[in-house]
Amino acid sequence: MLIPEIEAFLQCQTPQSWIECALEHPEELLLDHANCEKKAAGTALSLMFRYAEREELQQYLSRLAREELRHFEQVTAIMKKRGMRYRQLSPSSYAQRLHKHIASQEPAKLIDNLIVLAFIEARSCERFYRLAPYLDEELGRFYSSLLKSESRHFEGYLRMAQLYAKHSIEERIAFFANVEREAILTEDTVFRFHSGVPKLLGDPRPLTSTAGA
Ligand SMILES: [Fe+2]
Ligand SMILES: [Fe+2]
Repeated sequence: MLIPEIEAFLQCQTPQSWIECALEHPEELLLDHANCEKKAAGTALSLMFRYAEREELQQYLSRLAREELRHFEQVTAIMKKRGMRYRQLSPSSYAQRLHKHIASQEPAKLIDNLIVLAFIEARSCERFYRLAPYLDEELGRFYSSLLKSESRHFEGYLRMAQLYAKHSIEERIAFFANVEREAILTEDTVFRFHSGVPKLLGDPRPLTSTAGA
């Protein structure tokens, strides 16, 4: 069961059409998933350099970056086993849609950043949860295990935001919850781990799936 905090935090469920699209594009799913793990580690590291004086944040991000890199290694190992080659993939507009609302001045910038990261982690967690029942045993087990770590990351980022905020962060959470909901429910022409409702231009494959159903 998806942890109630995440269900309450996210303002919408992943649309079924995204699940169907993911099952039809297993290579893109794993490839972009691997990229997301690498990016999560990179973001944690760059925040460590930017906020070197925040001790709790340093320790938290250091552990998180290691965990995300471990996830990257696990996804790419599964890809290799399945004969898929790791390569670079352009991102969807999801993160950009959230990032463009981050305050430009400190300390609001740090708090917004941490809230946005909490949303990204929460959505990853929700997607692992929704996908797991449709996947083969190996991937289903792997995604169920990731669900637990991403929900810890979600809680951790929120805890950090609360720790460094001088005021209540409820209003900013509500604001980004709306932006995030819109990003998930908007049509996307590319399929990615965090993309919106699939609208795949020129893709001859039907979006309804029989895989694992
Ligand atoms: Fe991860
Ligand atoms: Fe994570």
